[in-house]
Amino acid sequence: MDLYIDTANLDEIKQVHAMGVLDGVTTNPSLIAKEGVDYGKRLSDVCKVVSGPVSAEVVATDFEGMMKEGRERAKIAPNIVVKVPCTVEGLRACKAFTDEGIKTNLTLCFQPLQGLLVAKAGAFIISPFIGRLDDVGEDGMILIHQLRQIYDNYGFKTKVLAASIRHPKHLVECAMAGADIATVPFSVIKQMMSHPLTDTGLAKFLSDYKKAFG
Ligand code: E4P
Repeated sequence: MDLYIDTANLDEIKQVHAMGVLDGVTTNPSLIAKEGVDYGKRLSDVCKVVSGPVSAEVVATDFEGMMKEGRERAKIAPNIVVKVPCTVEGLRACKAFTDEGIKTNLTLCFQPLQGLLVAKAGAFIISPFIGRLDDVGEDGMILIHQLRQIYDNYGFKTKVLAASIRHPKHLVECAMAGADIATVPFSVIKQMMSHPLTDTGLAKFLSDYKKAFG
């Protein structure tokens, strides 16, 4: 399963890149607003650090607006993936971008038929938001399983990117369900390599060694 970081914070991106396990980045308008920087400039800086796919979301909601913005974003770097919402306008834009050779990430997916349509339109990535489904009393993981099966049934190449990840258990389940990618907040990435028994075990090894050899 590929690991993307879900942030527009350059320092977090650099830290995970330095771990040697970063495959890509996803951003969205909320994440860039939190940083308070120019979206285009930040994307350009991110693409200087990360060579894998970097998702850049459009803020237009109409077809023409999405196409204009997406084409501009795509010019920033060859690894930019244009992120558009799972709406009818987004679906049209997905098809048009695909025809132009621009990769797309279809975001805000909450039900499997959105996934079926965007795969037919040539989406590079579909982003099911599992945490937000859990938040409203549904089981977000079911959507990952549904998309995996639909794509496998018909041989769609669209990648299932598990988004809105809230905790490590989501990641274990996504990996077991066959998600192609998970995009993960920095705080959860740090949790992935952490276990209290690792810490106490290491402390014991070192204190035993020190007792014996000084
Ligand atoms: C995905 O691309 C989104 O940026 C993200 O995963 C949304 O997560 P949230 O529900 O924690 O905002």
